[in-house]
Amino acid sequence: MTPKQLMQKAIDARALSYSPYSHFAVGAALLCRDGSVYLGANVENASYPVTMCAERNALFHAMMEGKKKEDFVALAIVADSKRACSPCGLCRQAIAELYPNTAPIYLGNLSGEIQETNAQELLPFAFQKEDLEK
Ligand code: THU
Repeated sequence: MTPKQLMQKAIDARALSYSPYSHFAVGAALLCRDGSVYLGANVENASYPVTMCAERNALFHAMMEGKKKEDFVALAIVADSKRACSPCGLCRQAIAELYPNTAPIYLGNLSGEIQETNAQELLPFAFQKEDLEK
């Protein structure tokens, strides 16, 4: 699957966004080694911090179907933003733990921009589970 095709899946996922407060719909699509694709969209709440972002939703969705970090090969995230949509700090932390370090992450917008990055670039020197050890 090409980055553009995965981005199209993220655009499809974006249609499922529940974002009545920000009116900022985000979609994500997570490609696995076996070819399966898990979708996520942001789901907001009247209690704002309860909101779930699109990319975390896609990761959790895949994990609830039994997929693991080693299965993930590409992730696309898209919003109707001027520049390619950049993941928030919370999502960077989740990605740092749950998604392979150097696998591609495609950030996009509805103008067709696609910027490639990876987990390491998004959150260098991330707090990791090893840091919990004394
Ligand atoms: N949001 C995402 O879902 N992913 C991002 O990468 C950036 C932000 C959501 C959270 C909230 O529902 C809305 O976008 C505005 O912040």
